[in-house]
Amino acid sequence: MKALILSGGKGTRLRPITHTNAKQLIPIANKPILFYGIEAIKEAGITDIGIIVGETREDVKQAVGNGDKWGVKITYIEQDEPLGLAHAVKIAEDFIGRDSFVMYLGDNLIKDGIKALVTEFKQNKPNAQILLAKVPHPEQFGVAELANGKVIRLEEKPVYPKSDLALVGVYMFDSSIFDAVKNIRPSSRNELEITDAIQYLIDQKKVVHPHVVTGWWKDTGKLEDMLEANSIILDTFTFKNEGRVDSASKIEGKVVIEKGAVIEGSTVRGPAIIGENARIINSYIGPYTSVYFGSHIESSEIEHSIILENSQIVDIKRIADSLIGQNVEIVKSHTRPQAYRIMVGDSSKIEII
Ligand code: G1P
Repeated sequence: MKALILSGGKGTRLRPITHTNAKQLIPIANKPILFYGIEAIKEAGITDIGIIVGETREDVKQAVGNGDKWGVKITYIEQDEPLGLAHAVKIAEDFIGRDSFVMYLGDNLIKDGIKALVTEFKQNKPNAQILLAKVPHPEQFGVAELANGKVIRLEEKPVYPKSDLALVGVYMFDSSIFDAVKNIRPSSRNELEITDAIQYLIDQKKVVHPHVVTGWWKDTGKLEDMLEANSIILDTFTFKNEGRVDSASKIEGKVVIEKGAVIEGSTVRGPAIIGENARIINSYIGPYTSVYFGSHIESSEIEHSIILENSQIVDIKRIADSLIGQNVEIVKSHTRPQAYRIMVGDSSKIEII
């Protein structure tokens, strides 16, 4: 069995971060989201992995490399334009050949991994196995309608969803999916939808097995989801200190301090992670916060936030519920006239008190 990870797309709901960054490389608890997917696939015993890349191909290739660090083999497959998930399957046919495969959307996180699901697929040998999860806003997803435990209909982002069962971004297919992706038409958003391809399988009387996921799952396409995913992963950590904490600092609960990090005169209340060579000076880092490598936080308070690499936050009373990009500077200004001086990217969001 092989795996196909999708790591293209534009990440429009996470702009401006995604103007310069692949959304799949945004760190959750200081690890790029994409890496969780690779690890889950490896854990399921699959080592031959294709990654679909688009505009952000260079960043993805640089971060993932040839897969050596996980003991897997990575093949990159170029998608020139984001023409949909089923289009990605279409262009992966040469790579997949006659094998079965797991398709894994690179911005999805499944806490329990996929090992048991792969085993179930191998045992039952359906043509497709889809994962479903109950969600409060099904209209934002592909939605499945079941009758007597069978999938009868799938619809991509329906205005009036027929159930609250969303398609999770992990699918298992045998090679009949290649026939399906060649027989569907683009949707109203001009994409070849994998949801329509699976509906085609159902129409052709193929076996599509639904598996309702009860554990935690997240599509990290939006800020709130990303912060929630960060919180949930941080919660699984245990205390570890590989950095330097001075005697005036207090470290409480599940806190991971990575190599070379320095904490002086500060309180860090877990769950939290402080990245390599980050500096936390006279500050408070509150629960559910990830500070990535090389960032510098001084005389500030931050909680329930993700700070990317090499950013600086100095003299800021309190930041919460935020995602802050790389090389960002947020500092208090002491010059007159007093004013907010801002150079901020397109599609940013700033709430000021
Ligand atoms: C895609 C699929 C959708 C699925 C979702 C899961 O949506 O089209 O059916 O429910 O992933 O993450 P997208 O996130 O590309 O809008």
